[in-house]
Amino acid sequence: MSIKPLIILPDPILRQVSKPVERVDGDLRKLADDMLETMYDAPGIGLAAIQVGEPRRLLVIDLAKEGEPPAPHVFINPEILESSDQRSVYEEGCLSIPDYYAEVERPAAVRVKYLDRDGKLQEMQAEGLMATCLQHEIDHLNGVLFIDHISKLKRDMVVRKFKKLAKDKAPGKMVG
Ligand code: NI
Repeated sequence: MSIKPLIILPDPILRQVSKPVERVDGDLRKLADDMLETMYDAPGIGLAAIQVGEPRRLLVIDLAKEGEPPAPHVFINPEILESSDQRSVYEEGCLSIPDYYAEVERPAAVRVKYLDRDGKLQEMQAEGLMATCLQHEIDHLNGVLFIDHISKLKRDMVVRKFKKLAKDKAPGKMVG
């Protein structure tokens, strides 16, 4: 397993729409394991493949709290079948938008179908943090970021800040 570099805002890769996984094989499982390791290292609770530069419909989630045994979930080609009318608000963050958090309102529960790491078709009825996390990660597969769900004013501020950070880090800049 290896830790992969994370793609950070405003990298346009994050806006790509990921392609369906055609085969669940050893290579894909290796990518899922690398993503889990990258996510644990960050640390985070969810990661989509596009965040490590792989435009494939694959995401990993682990909601185990500190001190609890790991509970890794691998979702391949996940699809939301149903969303509840009831909504809930969570403060969200994203490994591709480090150190920025904002409240986002989403459906409180979702039913999702996906392939597991063995390529078996599964369905999950998710609520609470799992529902929010699944929606956040599935958004990534469609090139959507959680800041797309907040006000334009706030979003423009975040994007401007990250553009400036990226420019300051760009090669060729002389820092004495
Ligand atoms: Ni994210």
